[in-house]
Amino acid sequence: MSTATSAWASGAGRLISAGMRLASRGSMKLDFVGEGFELPAPDASRRYLLYVHVPFCEVLCPFCSFHRVEFRDHKARRHFEALRRQIRGYAAAGFRLSGVYVGGGTPTVLPDELARTLELIHECFGRQQVSVETNPSDLRAEVLDVLREAGVARLSVGVQSFDDALLRGMERYDKYGSGAAFAARLAATKGAFQTLNVDMIFNLPGQTRTRLERDLRILTEELAVDQVSFYPLMVTQTTQRKMSSTLGVHSMRNEQAYYALIRERLRDAYVPSSAWCFSRGRNMIDEYVVTDDEYIGAGSGAFGYVDGMIYGNSFSLNRYAMLLAAGRSPITMARRLSEHERMRYDFLMRLFGLRLEKAFLEAKYGGSFERRMWPEIAFFRALGALRERPDCYELTDRGMYYWVVMMREFFTGVNRFREQARANIAREWRGEGEFNAKAQRRKGEIRDIA
Ligand SMILES: C[S@@+](CC[C@H](N)C(=O)[O-])C[C@H]1O[C@@H](n2cnc3c(N)ncnc32)[C@H](O)[C@@H]1O
Ligand code: SF4
Repeated sequence: MSTATSAWASGAGRLISAGMRLASRGSMKLDFVGEGFELPAPDASRRYLLYVHVPFCEVLCPFCSFHRVEFRDHKARRHFEALRRQIRGYAAAGFRLSGVYVGGGTPTVLPDELARTLELIHECFGRQQVSVETNPSDLRAEVLDVLREAGVARLSVGVQSFDDALLRGMERYDKYGSGAAFAARLAATKGAFQTLNVDMIFNLPGQTRTRLERDLRILTEELAVDQVSFYPLMVTQTTQRKMSSTLGVHSMRNEQAYYALIRERLRDAYVPSSAWCFSRGRNMIDEYVVTDDEYIGAGSGAFGYVDGMIYGNSFSLNRYAMLLAAGRSPITMARRLSEHERMRYDFLMRLFGLRLEKAFLEAKYGGSFERRMWPEIAFFRALGALRERPDCYELTDRGMYYWVVMMREFFTGVNRFREQARANIAREWRGEGEFNAKAQRRKGEIRDIA
């Protein structure tokens, strides 16, 4: 890319970033719902992904905005019990599954509880393809055996970087070990699951080009991992504050160049299955978000999306468990998306998976998808992000980076919402009003409780 083209592309990246930030603020606004809330009934002709959230970690990383709390054995057992109740409820309501994704937090904090939960899922919904997230320190025979027996097909390990200085900055070195120890554990785990995915982060403060090149060499040459997901660092005000003393200050300056480096180094042996997930070979299981457009969530702080309704379970672990124990719904927030918002969501997610099938979306929206979405389609075509084929739109190489930017902003919006929802736990108990981050920040009502 010439200097002029790359400056133009990075200007467009900033514009997209700002536009998406505005758009995701509006879309992640859910209302508190009272006891009478009813989830739409499942559509008998479709299957739903089940997302299970396990919000416990031994130690909390400063850069992370996911819903997670410090591990306590009794709290975690109570939470597993509660989420199994919710899963039974979904089965009783008639939902059929396309697969299961267990994320966190750290789903493997209590392998026996995780195994019981997966057993229940197979019992209620038939044998399922299961994907589970974990940390490098849990790549031990006693945990891996349990996972294999429970039918886990895709294991996703959070590595972030093999560089010890960066691991120290992320406060992961003391709890999970050195980069060399991670690499040895991953090498020993290879082949044990249909897909072994490694989660990495790029554009960390202090991550030089040389450090990223070394990470890429370890992944592709030493380990030849099955799959790698390279997330751009996502920051909120809260995580930036926590990270600044150990890792440094986040900047967008290198993001595009580092993404280009990742693409270049993975080009020969890996095929992208989304804008940030790359698989070696064809028989790999992809990230859930791309393939399943509707999903149901179990666990405190888990979201679901059913028939245009986006909803969330209580972020209070106590409330989540108490509601379920009382035979009530743990869903405490929801909003129905307008048709245009649903189209935009599909546009974002489908193209994040690199390809938008026209026939599928025209059938879904009664033939009005391209007509309603033409401004977005025309905008991204003019930027050189989309290529039109007779049956689909595809992301171009340039478009892949723009989609990384949009997904970064989309998930940053979700992260802000999670922080806000946790700060709102007291209001949630009282069932008051609607989340409004700006007003609450002004009034000092939003605080960090992680
Ligand atoms: C939420 S964690 C859950 C699994 C596990 N506890 C772990 O640390 O990998 C899943 C992945 O999200 C990614 N992640 C977490 N916080 C992030 C952030 N602020 N920016 C980009 N990626 C992030 C990391 O790559 C992490 O491995
Ligand atoms: S990155 Fe993983 S281990 Fe760290 S706090 Fe987040 S969920 Fe827990």
